Amino acid sequence: MSAATTARVIAHPNIALVKYWGKRPRSANVPAADSLSLTLGPMHTETTLRWVEGSADQGTLDGRPLSEAVARRLSGFLDLVRAMRPGLGGAHFETRNDFPTAAGLASSSSGFAALALAATQAAGLSLDPAALSRLARQGSGSAARSIFGGFAWMHAGSAEDGSDAFAEAIAPADHWPLKVVVAITMEGAKDVPSTDGMNLTEATSPYYDAWLNTVPPAIQGAREAIEARDFERLAEVAEASALQMHASALAAVPGVIYWRGATLEALHTVRALRAQGTEAFFTIDAGPHVKVFCTPNAEARVREALMDTPGVLRTLVAEPAEGAHVLPEGSHA
Ligand code: PMV
Repeated sequence: MSAATTARVIAHPNIALVKYWGKRPRSANVPAADSLSLTLGPMHTETTLRWVEGSADQGTLDGRPLSEAVARRLSGFLDLVRAMRPGLGGAHFETRNDFPTAAGLASSSSGFAALALAATQAAGLSLDPAALSRLARQGSGSAARSIFGGFAWMHAGSAEDGSDAFAEAIAPADHWPLKVVVAITMEGAKDVPSTDGMNLTEATSPYYDAWLNTVPPAIQGAREAIEARDFERLAEVAEASALQMHASALAAVPGVIYWRGATLEALHTVRALRAQGTEAFFTIDAGPHVKVFCTPNAEARVREALMDTPGVLRTLVAEPAEGAHVLPEGSHA
């Protein structure tokens, strides 16, 4: 074990093709089912962290002090690292997202992947990727997948303590040169945090078990489609997974509604593009934005069609990216 130092790291968000929606009850944030994602750049979180003996945790997010709720959540997470190496003290950290935070753009996936890596590195602990993924999962389920670049498969596992609930890489970022056009349909933070939405779905939705049953065949289908680079098959599996996840949430009491009018308009735009032969499919997370996967030569057409869609404010373009990594000292991201 080496001495504690300052660590500076980068992590990219990921978007699930087969969604994670639901936790195992009374668990250390263990997902109820597997999920499968693609890690995307250039958007990223950059986190710099050092441990200071005898101090309390002190952090900033995008240059501003943390809200009480966020500070509590992050300190709870940092306790997991303190338990691995007693005597660390408090974490002093700065974290920045170059894209909107908590707006349904997967900032918690890159955020907790970056924090897990920065906190363990700065503590002189070097965890293997599976252990790092397991740690990141306890911050945010989707963060377990952002440890890896390219396509990642998150295993829900079966161990009571969640020790086998971590992600693995199944294909690197350069396996399939896809693009993702994100249609931003609203500025600002989302209404219902994903954990609240999942918990309500699990507790009250008559479709929750039906949703969970869709996951194993979807994982199988997505893995085969990715391996064969079969766009049409992946489109079918990913759109179904997103709509089935939202169907289970909509059926909660009260229903969890992440969509805005522009969300639905964008889905129709994508369906119309595909009917005309454009390789594009959509997915939607716990927010109102629509993420459209497409082939590189379809990107301009997809962007134009989304910009012509009523209520779409702007678009961002992303592509497969690498996993969470440490920056050499003194470098700039
Ligand atoms: O990692 P969390 O707790 O923010 O949950 C993510 C949930 C979805 O984004 C809707 C789906 C997913 O698999 O990323």
